[in-house]
Amino acid sequence: MICNWNIWTVRQEFNSSCLYNLIKMKSSINKKQIQAIRYYDKLSKVHDLVSSKWYYHKARHYAIQQLHLKEGEAVLNLPYGTGQNFEYFQKYLNDTGLIIGIDLSEGMMAQAKKKRAKNNWTNVKILKGDATKITKDWIVENVNKPIEVDAVLCDLGLSGFPEWEKIIDNMLSLLKQVGIMVIMDWYLPKPSPKGAFVKWIGKGEVNRPIYQYLETKVTNFSVDTSFNRGGIFVATGIKK
Ligand SMILES: C[S@@+](CC[C@H](N)C(=O)[O-])C[C@H]1O[C@@H](n2cnc3c(N)ncnc32)[C@H](O)[C@@H]1O
Repeated sequence: MICNWNIWTVRQEFNSSCLYNLIKMKSSINKKQIQAIRYYDKLSKVHDLVSSKWYYHKARHYAIQQLHLKEGEAVLNLPYGTGQNFEYFQKYLNDTGLIIGIDLSEGMMAQAKKKRAKNNWTNVKILKGDATKITKDWIVENVNKPIEVDAVLCDLGLSGFPEWEKIIDNMLSLLKQVGIMVIMDWYLPKPSPKGAFVKWIGKGEVNRPIYQYLETKVTNFSVDTSFNRGGIFVATGIKK
């Protein structure tokens, strides 16, 4: 009896210390996320000057080509930032189908809406949402119609997102069967001044094995690591 009681006590203590650590970890993730979004709200005003179109043009052009978009299709872009990808999507969609953008920063959202208005795009849905919490139902609710997502582009997000593996899984779950998933991001596995600068400006990590993780989750995987002097990769895969 005493022995059973002791085991029970140890178990209780173990469970509550695990729970405590989990809560501590979650609250530190939340704190980091709030700080990151505050930073992106401020950055949004000068984002297109700091991160100008030419800097990522080659990688973006290639990434969006990899989506193989056809007129009438729906593409999900997470995170959309100031909406720099929209004009690239339109080359394939010609204002048909649907571009669904999701980002958590209201500052970024305002800039993306300006781009949409300036170009009179009618097929761009700009939403505020948290990448860790998006579901199929959430998308349908916010788009106001049943929708099948043909392709997903996640660019320069996963290096900064918390719980990035979970977000890759989630994005794949939002895609239709045999839909295309493309990720464009930084990968600098060894410490370097460039890596330190990118980490500072983007408030993320540059050594996450993002494309290596995607490879385990998709079919027809391919990756091109040649962009921005080998710092940026574009990885493509088809939902299994
Ligand atoms: C480096 S920017 C990249 C934006 C865009 N894809 C581009 O290439 O210009 C990172 C973006 O991630 C967004 N972000 C950060 N955490 C997020 C989250 N949990 N859910 C959705 N967006 C998030 C930020 O607001 C910011 O716009």
